[in-house]
Amino acid sequence: MVSWLWLLLVSFLQLEQAACEDYGYSFTSKELKAYKQEVKELFYFGFDNYLEHGYPFDEVRPISCVPKKRNFEDPNDRVTNDILGNFTITLIDSLTTIAVLQDKPRFLEAVRLVERTFPKGEFDVDSTVQVFETTIRVIGSLLSSHLYSTDPTKAVYLGNEYDGSLLALAQYMADRLLPAYLTHSGLPVPRIKVKKNLKVPDFTDPLSTENNVAAMACPMFEFTMLSYLTGDSKYEKVTRYAFDKTWSLRTDLNLLPMSFHPNKMTPYTPMTGVGASIDSFFEYALKGAVLFDDSELMGIWNVAYQSLKTNCKNDWFFTNVMADTGQLYVPWIDSLSAFFPGLQVLAGDVDDAIAKHLMFLKIWNTFGGIPERWLFRPPELFPPSSLGKSVPFDLNTILPLEWYPLRPEFFESTYFLYRATKDPFYLNIGVHLLRDLKQRFKSKCGFAGFQNVITGELQDRMETFVLSETLKYLYLLFDEGNEIHRSGSEVVFSTEAHPMWLPLEVRSKYKREAKFNDSTYVAHLEACYERDKELRAKEDTLRQRIIGFAKSIFSQDQADTNEDTAYDILDHKSNNEIPDSCPIRPRQATAHDSWYSPMLSKYKKLFEIDTRHADTLIKPSHMQNYSAIELEHSFYNRWSDPQFSTCQIMPTTEIFELLFDLPGLYRRVPITSNSNDTITFQTFGGRSRLNIEKMQIYKIGQYGDLITALNFQNISRRDLYSHYCDTIASLYSPTFLYRVVAINGDTVPFHGMVQVEKHNFVSFSNDTAEPDALITDSIGINDRAQLMIECTPIVNLILV
Ligand SMILES: *[C@@H]1O[C@H](CO)[C@@H](O)[C@H](O)[C@H]1NC(C)=O
Ligand SMILES: *[C@@H]1O[C@H](CO)[C@@H](O)[C@H](O)[C@H]1NC(C)=O
Ligand SMILES: *[C@@H]1O[C@H](CO)[C@@H](O)[C@H](O)[C@H]1NC(C)=O
Ligand SMILES: *[C@@H]1O[C@H](CO)[C@@H](O)[C@H](O)[C@H]1NC(C)=O
Ligand SMILES: *[C@@H]1O[C@H](CO)[C@@H](O)[C@H](O)[C@H]1NC(C)=O
Ligand SMILES: *[C@@H]1O[C@H](CO)[C@@H](O)[C@H](O)[C@H]1NC(C)=O
Repeated sequence: MVSWLWLLLVSFLQLEQAACEDYGYSFTSKELKAYKQEVKELFYFGFDNYLEHGYPFDEVRPISCVPKKRNFEDPNDRVTNDILGNFTITLIDSLTTIAVLQDKPRFLEAVRLVERTFPKGEFDVDSTVQVFETTIRVIGSLLSSHLYSTDPTKAVYLGNEYDGSLLALAQYMADRLLPAYLTHSGLPVPRIKVKKNLKVPDFTDPLSTENNVAAMACPMFEFTMLSYLTGDSKYEKVTRYAFDKTWSLRTDLNLLPMSFHPNKMTPYTPMTGVGASIDSFFEYALKGAVLFDDSELMGIWNVAYQSLKTNCKNDWFFTNVMADTGQLYVPWIDSLSAFFPGLQVLAGDVDDAIAKHLMFLKIWNTFGGIPERWLFRPPELFPPSSLGKSVPFDLNTILPLEWYPLRPEFFESTYFLYRATKDPFYLNIGVHLLRDLKQRFKSKCGFAGFQNVITGELQDRMETFVLSETLKYLYLLFDEGNEIHRSGSEVVFSTEAHPMWLPLEVRSKYKREAKFNDSTYVAHLEACYERDKELRAKEDTLRQRIIGFAKSIFSQDQADTNEDTAYDILDHKSNNEIPDSCPIRPRQATAHDSWYSPMLSKYKKLFEIDTRHADTLIKPSHMQNYSAIELEHSFYNRWSDPQFSTCQIMPTTEIFELLFDLPGLYRRVPITSNSNDTITFQTFGGRSRLNIEKMQIYKIGQYGDLITALNFQNISRRDLYSHYCDTIASLYSPTFLYRVVAINGDTVPFHGMVQVEKHNFVSFSNDTAEPDALITDSIGINDRAQLMIECTPIVNLILV
């Protein structure tokens, strides 16, 4: 009897093991199923509470259990009224999550409820709303739900039970929003009155004078989809014109200021980045290219992404820089930018996505959410600390915008990284997010995010993205077998997480039969093109090619007190203290060990952020007992490699940036990769940003190498073209050297060389013996062809 039971237990264990192996690096299928069931229950908890306590208004208040309505009294309450148009937006935005749950009875029920709510197939409301938000939440969800309802391969396919009502509603709304584009520039105003028979919006409205890049460009995605599904190409034509026009407003560095006056096309801010106001522009350039098979959009994405890497990229996040100079503008990152690693996965840049996502994990570990804005650098190091004194700082200074309304972006990129890597590391993050949703944010009638991350106070609001995105991505993380994950499903998620796909027959029918015959919009676009032509003619006569030989050393940012020269010290902490407590030690091997989480077992820089940003990753008191997700005991014991310790030696060198503006175009071709792992970068021109490491003896380099006297062998500081350095060289032996560790956001491998064409720096005219060049006291070339900054060679930057 006993032995029989034992046998049963053993075979059960083996089954579990087999299930693991089905999924490669994953949890058991049983665990995944339980997690996904929990997420599903959470979704219906929120949705049913909305139906009971919020419907037919736009949202439900999760703590007080009453509807959150449009602010009818104060039309200027934009925070509320931009989104809440009094059109049951939670119901509409949630439809596609029910479709993703593959729950046909509930899906049909919800579609019927939408139909009953808008029996005439119209949104007959008299509300001014934001064009962008209404597009992504209302039109996006209706289009995706229409796709689900009409696709026989989908679990929620409705067949004869569906008559196209959702598509009709989407088109109705699009017709109400489209007049926003009837401006002189063709760029939309941000808000419009969703009223029947309104043709032209009120452009004198003071709320119409600023619009951001995402809002001007992005409706293109949903509106193009609408054109495909209706055969009326006016939606595509008008919004695509605005997308391209927005891109045309970029600076010479191919960076877009985040917001403009939509009619005058003048920038409102010099700032750019990947977060709020511009995020979806990048997203829809790439996703539009994929969904609509559009090579022009792909071209825009490629240029825009390369420019971000060149100008905004840091090891762990993208910074906010000035669009015309590429210099650091403000030292913060915002909550919305957590989506970007997911987009990098889609672009195939998984390695960098892993690093950028890790930053947000550390933020979640610290604050229990992703604060709307977090300063990555202590305020005393700010450029305008004009007093030159340390400003005392605390959590209030580090978190100038302290709320976290359960935004989905971190969930989203966690999901994409799991799909790309299958590393259980990401599943484990999902398990913790699920636990936090249940334990911290689940309230009486829905989910309440943080009003204040510092105090832990909750907010009596549940925005529609909680049900439509946050829980959807979490469910999909655990739902390995979802129809979306089947090969050939070719789904692209909209920025509001509504799955979109373009059936082949729809595509070809549109190419064959699309019509553009609405005279208002035909005339509008003709006028726009005409004005563009005139403008171009004017520009051509004015155009001058400006080639700066400018070498620009980043210096505005801050003064390094140890140096006469000021550089932008990326790594402001000099990290002299190597942490003495190792966060992770190799554990005991067990008989069951076979495979491990690559992040826990191979990723050498798992704890670098903790040290580098220790100054501003400060835990609020309510988070004191919250342990780092990646160090949680049971997960660590199950998935770490017993041979491996992530306690790498931390780099202790400093890094600064060097910015070149050289003639010609940037071309980077990693030419050779020999047995030594040496990659040579070919020439570059145009804007280039180099991260330069300052190598000093006994410091630990960025590659984990100890800098020793060997690195200083054969150092030459003899400047070929000037005698400026000769005296210095003869008087002092060098105490530091430079090395390029990254170029335009791409890491230079250990022992890698960067080559630059010499004529960018020196040229000889026949008249004089002196070189006609950029060589100055601060830039030189030594007899080993290495570039020198202030008589110190950059040992792996060679002029050829
Ligand atoms: C808002 O919507 C509710 C429910 O549909 C409706 O009863 C009410 O009249 C609407 N209010 C306005 C001002 O449109
Ligand atoms: C535009 O074309 C559609 C489809 O052929 C047609 O139904 C509609 O009447 C036309 N509209 C105008 C204004 O010509
Ligand atoms: C943290 O845990 C300790 C010990 O369990 C407990 O006494 C303390 O109240 C907890 N602190 C918070 C902020 O939850
Ligand atoms: C390998 O790297 C070392 C160190 O930079 C270098 O001196 C050597 O020439 C390289 N070997 C080859 C084959 O490139
Ligand atoms: C330094 O130069 C000497 C003589 O040219 C050469 O033998 C030696 O290999 C060089 N060392 C390094 C590290 O390049
Ligand atoms: C400069 O001199 C070289 C060789 O001496 C000659 O080939 C070239 O044409 C000269 N260039 C000019 C601009 O005179």
